This record gives sequence, structure tokens and C-alpha cells, in this order.
Amino acid sequence: MKDVLQNPTKGYYMSKDMFGESGDFITSPEISQIFGEMLAVWFLNEWSKIGCPKPLQIVELGPGRGTLSNDMLRVFSHFKALHQVSLHLVEVSPVLSEVQGKKLCSQSYLTNNYNNPIFRKGISHQGIPVHWYKQFKDVPDGFSLIIAHEFFDALPIHKFHKTYAGYKEVLIDIDKICNNDEIKFRYVLARQDTPMLKVLLKPNESRDHVEISPDSMLILEQICNKVVGSGGIALICDYGHNGTGTDTFRAFKKHKQVDPLIQPGSADLTADVDFNVIREIAKNNGDVIYLGPIKQRNFLHRIGIEYRVKSLKENLIDKKQIDHLIACYNFLTGEDKMGERFKFCAILPATLKKIMDKYPVVGFM
Ligand SMILES: C[S@@+](CC[C@H](N)C(=O)[O-])C[C@H]1O[C@@H](n2cnc3c(N)ncnc32)[C@H](O)[C@@H]1O
Repeated sequence: MKDVLQNPTKGYYMSKDMFGESGDFITSPEISQIFGEMLAVWFLNEWSKIGCPKPLQIVELGPGRGTLSNDMLRVFSHFKALHQVSLHLVEVSPVLSEVQGKKLCSQSYLTNNYNNPIFRKGISHQGIPVHWYKQFKDVPDGFSLIIAHEFFDALPIHKFHKTYAGYKEVLIDIDKICNNDEIKFRYVLARQDTPMLKVLLKPNESRDHVEISPDSMLILEQICNKVVGSGGIALICDYGHNGTGTDTFRAFKKHKQVDPLIQPGSADLTADVDFNVIREIAKNNGDVIYLGPIKQRNFLHRIGIEYRVKSLKENLIDKKQIDHLIACYNFLTGEDKMGERFKFCAILPATLKKIMDKYPVVGFM
């Protein structure tokens, strides 16, 4: 999964822009600017409750086309909250970093310095510094508002399957080479206990299929450490389950589910996020507050999406534009759309507990 998505030459994420109607999938920030604006207002509200610590770093993991950060910066700028603020983007794809650079900055450039973890730099349209990193751990210390939207579902997983002889790791094997030299792949079960099975699988596990993402676990630990060490608030949004999900690994191409083993690198690979794992990592850290997960529709309603839609609607006269606005709202919040499947969780330092008890974190209560 890691190679198929991140291989420097053939990886799915490495060489194209796969978003939108003509691409393979669409995400909430791409559906409507309202999504990013609502998240920005949430961050601004929680940040001001603790006295607007500065300097402030806005950090986005997996920024896609840069739309969410762009919409958030516009709101921060509207509220004149960009003094001593910088934007830090964690992105594995050079092509997408260029797309993000074009959206966010009038100019951005590759640093070409292999000793510098910042691989791209720019100044945003609002005049704040924007830095790109390949890894979250390279984002400098400093109070951070961290957003990860549809990031963790893109990180590689290990799969384990329960058999009569106990759990076995599911591996990918070469099946055969066809006439046209196209390699076919197949799933196989490891004969012996693999190191990953020994390290990752819990002794009390009972599901038939288990998917675990050690890369996600590492980054989540780093997020917890960052909000504890430097101060900050992290918001994670993704589709997922509470430790009950089983066989969720799948591939998407042109908005359709396809076989992940056919033409690897041509389709997006994804697996549901295990919010129970996030909760456990937060608990093991011991110094953070974990909130959620709650459904996207509940979160967006509690933070007042209908008021934003109403005010936008009042400024529209064209029926087509109004219909589009309502359709976007329904897509983001609908039970049969993104409103139900997507969930939000938040991580804050435990030192904020007193303030948060008095003024509960909006959206989660
Ligand atoms: C599904 S897209 C989500 C994009 C965006 N957040 C949105 O919601 O529109 C996943 C994003 O994460 C990036 N990505 C995937 N794996 C990554 C990794 N290991 N490190 C950093 N970025 C990664 C991809 O290049 C892409 O920008």
C-alpha cells in the first residue's frame, strides 16, 4: 500500500491531481468553501478561548489541492487573526505540493536543499509564510492548530486474518505474468507469524479481519507530543469506526470502487480509520484530552453550519447558485452522504482541562 501510493516514480499520489469530478474522488473541502470556513471558525473560537497564543502555526496534514488551508486562511484574514501566523503543510506528493503552492501563494519554490526538511516555501496571498514538509515530525515546535482531513485513511495498513490456526498476516504475492507482460497480484496468508503480527496484534483481538496502520499510530503519537510540548489543538476528520471495522481496504478510480490489486498506482487505496486506536494513543500519552469521535453532520450542525448557509443564501439571487449551495450543504451533512460516514475527533493538552470544563469544546458537547 505504501509503495503503490508513495513510490517516488509510480506512486498514485506522486504524479497527478486526482481530485474532483474528473478525478477519482471528491472530498468535503472540495465540495464547498463552507466546510473549510466552518473549521476555521471552530479553530478561531477554541484558540481565542485560551487567549490566542502567538506565534501561531496552522498545520495541515495531507492538504490535497490546498483548498481547506486556503478557505481557513481567508477566514483568519477576515477576522484579522493572521499576525504572527505561519502555515505548515505536510505533503508527500511533489505534484500536489505544486498545486497547493499555486492555490495558496502567488509564488512558491522548491528549496532543493536535501539537509533542509522544508522542501517548498512560499508566501500566502495574505502575506504569511508557507512551508512544506514530507513528515509531520519536521514541523517546528510552536503553538499549533493542526488539521488532518482525509489524511489517515491514506496511510498504509497491515491486514491480519483469523484462521483455524490463529491470526495470519495477509500479504500480496505475484500471481502470474500475463501475455502482455502485465503482472497480476493475489492475496496470500503468511505461513509463519510475521514481525508485524507479533508487534501489532492485540492478544484479546477477536475480529475475523483486522487492519492496523503503524504509520498512523506513529504520527498520532507525534501529534499528541506536539500539543503537549508546544501547546496546540488538533482536529482529525475521516471516515472510520470505533475498533469494530474489519475488511475496509479498498480502491477508488473515477469515483467507482475497483479491485486494489489491478493496475496498482492507478487507483486510490484507502482503509477506514480506527478511532479507538486514536483514543488509546491519546490515553497512553496521558497528558492530552481526547474528544469524539462524532459524526460530521452533528459536528457541523453544532458549530452552526445552517447559519452560514442561511447568510450565504441571503446574498444570492440566482436560483442555480442557491440550488447548488443547498446541494452542497446536503452533501456535507446528509445522513446518506458525508454527514454520517465522516467523523471528527479532537486532541488538546490536558493543561486546558479547567478552561474546557468551564467552556466546553464546541461541536463535541
Ligand atoms: C485523500 S487526500 C486528502 C486531501 C485533503 N485533505 C482533502 O480533504 O481534500 C490525501 C492527502 O494526503 C497526502 N498524503 C498521503 N500520504 C501521505 C503521507 N504519508 N505523508 C504526507 N502526506 C500524505 C496526499 O498526497 C494528499 O494530499
